[in-house]
Amino acid sequence: MGEAVFDRIARFYDYEQEGFVKDIPFYVEYAKKCGGEVLELACGTGRVLIPIAQEGIQVTGMDISEEMLNIARGKTVKLDESTRENIEIVHGDMKQFYLKKKFSMIYIAFRSFQSLLTKQDQGACLERVNRHLEDNGLFILDLFAPRHDILAQVKRSLNLDKFYDKENDLYINRRCEDEYDLANQTLKENRFYEWTDKNGKSHEEIWSFELSYLFRYEAKLLLEKYGFKVENVFGDFDKSPYNYYSGEQIFVARKD
Ligand SMILES: C[S@@+](CC[C@H](N)C(=O)[O-])C[C@H]1O[C@@H](n2cnc3c(N)ncnc32)[C@H](O)[C@@H]1O
Repeated sequence: MGEAVFDRIARFYDYEQEGFVKDIPFYVEYAKKCGGEVLELACGTGRVLIPIAQEGIQVTGMDISEEMLNIARGKTVKLDESTRENIEIVHGDMKQFYLKKKFSMIYIAFRSFQSLLTKQDQGACLERVNRHLEDNGLFILDLFAPRHDILAQVKRSLNLDKFYDKENDLYINRRCEDEYDLANQTLKENRFYEWTDKNGKSHEEIWSFELSYLFRYEAKLLLEKYGFKVENVFGDFDKSPYNYYSGEQIFVARKD
């Protein structure tokens, strides 16, 4: 599969996301309600997957980045045996996977679906999801909610928070430059990581990735096209309804 985009920053990922936990109880609640096996596509370092397994639920995680999965595997070996037994980690591409079982719930957290840039790839993924769901199974899809005022800037620079790199005992500053391709509904983000090491030497690492963005009814129609019935569109993980300023659009859909 070659090098995946996230391979390069996998070592920073958990430090960057430290404190971002508000989606976890939401996925845990639905996984418990579904009462069967769960699949997380684009599971990354296991941020959501591990808390689900800790509830006694069998969960499979798939990701295209071996580096992200290595971090997830490193975390699972530290878990108690019964939790570890609940977890299966597989390397794969969410738009072309085949697993020999079906799941009561599949979810794609933290906007990972938006790494699929074309309607063809997004459709291929949704088709795979549908086939891997049991009858009446649940699919949860989290996307960011695009806003016209932000898109209209076309280019924008942001200083993000600095984060603490525990392994190297360093603070790393982050900033990013986003560029929107309004015709193709994609954005390219260049992310700049800057830090000074213990010897006073400055370092910079630049990482670029692309995302697509989807509007509410576009995503709803896409889900319907691939055999899902949308039951809810939330604007946050506290289940408040979607509104234009929500930031998130969280689709809870049932296999039709
Ligand atoms: C923002 S991270 C989210 C990780 C995790 N779901 C979480 O919530 O912390 C996006 C993840 O999507 C993965 N990814 C991107 N494209 C993918 C694809 N086609 N198939 C599987 N995983 C993919 C990346 O490797 C990365 O781990």
